[in-house]
Amino acid sequence: MRDLSPTSSIFGTIPEAPPDAILGLNTQYRSDPSPNKVNLGVGAYRTADGQPYVLPVVRRVEQALADDPSTTHEYLPQDGLKEFCNLSASLILGAHSPAFADRRSVTVQALSGTGALRVGFTFVARFLSPQTAVYIPKPSWSNHKNVVVQSGLPPAKEYRYFDYGTGAVDINGMVEDLTAAPAGSIVVLHGCAHNPTGADPSHEQWERVLQVVQEGGLVPFFDNAYQGFASGSLEEDAWSVRRFVDAGIDMLVGQSYAKNMGLYGERVGALTVVSSEGGNNEAILSQLKAIIRAMYSNPPKHGAMVAAAILGHAGMFAEWEEELRKMADRIRDMRQKLRGALVKNGTPGNWDHIVNQIGMFSFTGLTAAQVELMKNKYHIYMTSNGRISMAGLTEDTVEYVADAMKDAVVSLKKGVIHNM
Ligand code: LMR
Repeated sequence: MRDLSPTSSIFGTIPEAPPDAILGLNTQYRSDPSPNKVNLGVGAYRTADGQPYVLPVVRRVEQALADDPSTTHEYLPQDGLKEFCNLSASLILGAHSPAFADRRSVTVQALSGTGALRVGFTFVARFLSPQTAVYIPKPSWSNHKNVVVQSGLPPAKEYRYFDYGTGAVDINGMVEDLTAAPAGSIVVLHGCAHNPTGADPSHEQWERVLQVVQEGGLVPFFDNAYQGFASGSLEEDAWSVRRFVDAGIDMLVGQSYAKNMGLYGERVGALTVVSSEGGNNEAILSQLKAIIRAMYSNPPKHGAMVAAAILGHAGMFAEWEEELRKMADRIRDMRQKLRGALVKNGTPGNWDHIVNQIGMFSFTGLTAAQVELMKNKYHIYMTSNGRISMAGLTEDTVEYVADAMKDAVVSLKKGVIHNM
């Protein structure tokens, strides 16, 4: 029988959850008193001085909103700011997408990319089946697994994605694993700038994936957290999603403005459900709204208003694109500098993959033990799979990091670098 003495709490036996693989690092980093500490964990852009960056165009819009007496803090509807949803769908699907012409798409505002996944998977569990199999790439963003399970679906299965030998996409393994997936399974695809590997399929490889998806009756769920960060072009980075929409299949598309507009903490994103045939949009929208109402009622307004203002104004949009290119350039520059420093200090191994990978991260090939050494001895923080957020590096820290990597590679030789 339960102990009912005044000191026993029904919550007393709840076990502690493990720290989050990415956000847990921020907590550790913040409490580290070392003056040399470097945070290469979470994927958040930093300036050349290592500072958080508010895009000037974002700052201006925020100022204008604050000064505008017609700005209010009224509730948004469950599906969010209509104008933002329309502009966001155009950004990823293209303004002239066939999904718009045939009224095949429904877009709701979401709490950034994670929120889009969470609402999308809940929708899948409710209206496809709670037993729907979900396939995620191996490796993938660590939170994908959590979101799938918390949405009431079985634990995600993994499909082969990355070839550790070549540092490129293992397209044959990927196609083979997806061919074996049962019809109706959800396949999570990173639209561009794969996190954590920085390796994306080529257009030809996407065509092969599309073929498997079509022939196998699979349902893609595109996670687009980095549009504009892979190539520096918003259009090019939307190629994969648009190609699949053109092929006329049922799919889900998540978007985030955390990285590309720097609106991390504002939680601005969108979920789009694209159907192979029009005709059921109102019903789909009503169910998404019902899910959102019970989950958080309606989304926050500020970030969506900022994003909508930029997306809907040609001049500000152009300015944003220019800012995006600059951020992508600084990341590319740090790739060159890190590789250069590793070559210069004679770190064993080939480090070309650091410059060949794209997006916000470098999947260095360092093992968990080497990552641990870098943290304990040098106060350099990165995820245990050896992923580095490149924007966390600066001119001042790149050599320090390269020297620490050399020490880790030299002193823990065994199983060092994935054959790259
Ligand atoms: C990351 O991968 O570091 C980012 O997407 C931030 C996050 O929420 O994990």
